[in-house]
Amino acid sequence: MNTIEADGLTKVYEGIAVVDDLNLRVSGEIYGLLGPNGSGKTTTVNMLTTLVHPTSGTASVCGYDVMRESAAVRRSMSYVPQDMAVDIRLTGWENVELFAKLYGIKDKAERRERIEYVLDIMNLTERAGDMTKKYSGGMRRRLELAQALVHQPNVLFLDEPTVGLDVTSRRSIWEYITKLRGTGMTIFVTTHQMDEAERYCDRVGIIKKGVLLNEGTPAELTSDLDDVIIIRTDSDLPRSLPDGVIPVKSEDGETVFSAKDGSGSLDPLLDAYRADGGKVFSSSVRGPTLEDVYMQAIGPGEEAPFDEDRFRNMMRRR
Ligand SMILES: Nc1ncnc2c1ncn2[C@@H]1O[C@H](COP(=O)(O)OP(=O)(O)O)[C@@H](O)[C@H]1O
Ligand SMILES: [Mg+2]
Repeated sequence: MNTIEADGLTKVYEGIAVVDDLNLRVSGEIYGLLGPNGSGKTTTVNMLTTLVHPTSGTASVCGYDVMRESAAVRRSMSYVPQDMAVDIRLTGWENVELFAKLYGIKDKAERRERIEYVLDIMNLTERAGDMTKKYSGGMRRRLELAQALVHQPNVLFLDEPTVGLDVTSRRSIWEYITKLRGTGMTIFVTTHQMDEAERYCDRVGIIKKGVLLNEGTPAELTSDLDDVIIIRTDSDLPRSLPDGVIPVKSEDGETVFSAKDGSGSLDPLLDAYRADGGKVFSSSVRGPTLEDVYMQAIGPGEEAPFDEDRFRNMMRRR
């Protein structure tokens, strides 16, 4: 059993529904909950992992109700919070052992076997004896995943797993997550990295102010959108545009259009510029991305400013 279900899940803080009537069915997949800062992602995960009581609605993990059977929920899943930190005074092995003991794996031989196994999955065996103080950010994230895996959960919750990591570490974390999905585990991940979600999530949900606006595979969600044409020019918009070509925005010498058939519309669009005596320096056409879907759902200017203090604190603790 590796399911996550929510029905009408709601959390009200100070009179505001920060998670608002959420319905979810997730099983055997990597599910990405996407949304700007403050949209309710962490609150959702906290309710699903029994850390926060829902105001109304129900939810279950692995068939266990998060309110009535919270102990069973905690036994069957693991949660790596956004600002979890490994203990830098301990070795990699000791950090995982600590969790194994917390989870009540009493048999010494079994404990040893499990620790070896999860360190191996996360490719940390060689560095297991080193103090984690010496680990890179990516290695520490992997160690946190190893800790989360030591009690063999069927469902894994990850809150912003790649925040603060460099490109290479991000990719490797996603590769490990994909490997876990391959073992039948359900992975519920929050992120605001659209490119990563598009590439690695089987399905995503887009949440804004606690409301799930959009849900589906990245391919399903992008297929509803038009292609994008980008024109670099210092000329004005042509007086007459080809059918189905719609100007979206224009800034810094770049004009962006949407079109159902991007490559088919490019030549007519360039002709339209020429007809007005305009000059086009370069042009490109691309298909819609999850980022386009996200921007359309969330709307411009809705992204909360980057929370720099929090980020710095988090980095200090690492
Ligand atoms: N314990 C709390 N008390 C009051 N408001 C809270 C609490 N936790 C979160 N919030 C508010 O709920 C909203 C959603 O927060 P959160 O779930 O952390 O969003 P996200 O993880 O998407 O950034 C925010 O407006 C936040 O300020
Ligand atoms: Mg959050």
